[in-house]
Amino acid sequence: MGLVYPLPSENKTVQGKEIQLEDLLGKTVLVIGGGGREHAIVDALTRSPQVSKIYCAPGNAGIGSQAFNVAIKDTDVEGLKAFAIENSVDLTVVGPEASLAAGIVDAFRAAGLKIFGHTQAATAIESSKEFAKKLMDKYGIPTAGYRSFTDYEEALAYVSARPFPAVLKYDGLAAGKGVVIAQDLEEARAALSDMLLDHSFGQGKVVVEDFLTGPEFSFLCFVDGERVYPMPLSQDHKRAFDGDKGPNTGGMGAYTGLPFITPEDEDFAYREILCKAASAMVAEGLPLSGVLYGGLMKTPQGIKVIEFNARFGDPETEVVLPRLESDIYDIFEGVATGRKLESPVWADGVTLGVVLASKGYPGHYEKGFAIGGLDQVDAQVYHMGTTVKEGQVLTAGGRVLMVVSSGKDLADAREKVYAEVRKISCDNLFYRNDIAHLAFE
Ligand code: AMP
Ligand code: GLY
Repeated sequence: MGLVYPLPSENKTVQGKEIQLEDLLGKTVLVIGGGGREHAIVDALTRSPQVSKIYCAPGNAGIGSQAFNVAIKDTDVEGLKAFAIENSVDLTVVGPEASLAAGIVDAFRAAGLKIFGHTQAATAIESSKEFAKKLMDKYGIPTAGYRSFTDYEEALAYVSARPFPAVLKYDGLAAGKGVVIAQDLEEARAALSDMLLDHSFGQGKVVVEDFLTGPEFSFLCFVDGERVYPMPLSQDHKRAFDGDKGPNTGGMGAYTGLPFITPEDEDFAYREILCKAASAMVAEGLPLSGVLYGGLMKTPQGIKVIEFNARFGDPETEVVLPRLESDIYDIFEGVATGRKLESPVWADGVTLGVVLASKGYPGHYEKGFAIGGLDQVDAQVYHMGTTVKEGQVLTAGGRVLMVVSSGKDLADAREKVYAEVRKISCDNLFYRNDIAHLAFE
């Protein structure tokens, strides 16, 4: 048998170009992570005419139908590096912040491996609230006023003398649990004691911020130093139940096509927030080379930053990437190597996605429930927390699935998505019925 080249799959066309031998030599990509965000990244990579093989570490049941799952933890930098070398991976794409904070990009680059994601030092824009606040202050990026404290008594005295609610943020990665909006002194005292006396998240500081009001939204951009390529705006739904009630979750649904943002708002946020932050990081000697996620709020005083993240959002990625018409491999590779990109092209219309979560989430929940009806669903289904046992897909996490539809407008996408969600049967899942409710009020 002669040399066999991996051929691009049937739906990949090499538009108007004579096919060269190199075109047939597809790229191998390793995606790090195993949630809905990574499923959406893998799914977008399958649409690239350049990619012929995708690994995902650790992946999940849904990802396993589009990529090879690899049982390596997302923070096992040495294990992932050895895998990338052994398997001639052309490009690695990092999903979770934990991998970035563990220094995966630094380690891969030192070994001469191409990787999409920020260095450990640049990840401070997400991992340290104080770093991010100082950066915004220094470069005039609009955000809530703040002060930071290490001493419990000083923090308490400051909070007591100010109006409530008080916004208290633990300075470090705290798995989404580091922010407390205290409604009164009692709640503030408990949270500060947790963070500064009991060190529940580790030894650290607390940032006390002014309380802002207004709708929140997410502005994700691909960033390579000073170059900032915007993605469509999206909105997450953080509370567990309809009407934005119940506890905070990782996100119960998202959509693109925000009804409350004008083109002027978007332009302001792009120039005065995302581009300024990218330039500020270059000026600080910490250039970004991955996704910068602005968690923004449209307040009565204008658009302000609530937080920056150094990665794709989840569930935002699942509604944003389906609209990408450009080759995502080209974008990832361009950012990873510092090559200027053509502006990415996004499909018109909107997308809307509903998360199905285990009953009890974000508190205690059971796993291992059979999920039926998936083969009936006529929409994109991203797996967030699933596993397969004897051919049966089972629940394996808090957030389990996300169903995403596109449409000409939000009413259209909403109707389509909920019709598909209802085809999924499982004894232990719940979902919100009001995703994109701001568009219908
Ligand atoms: P974060 O982890 O920084 O995104 O904060 C979690 C949530 O707390 C945000 O999505 C907001 O809903 C809320 N929050 C954070 N900072 C503020 C603030 N300064 N004012 C009002 N709400 C805030
Ligand atoms: N959707 C919130 C986040 O990814 O942080």
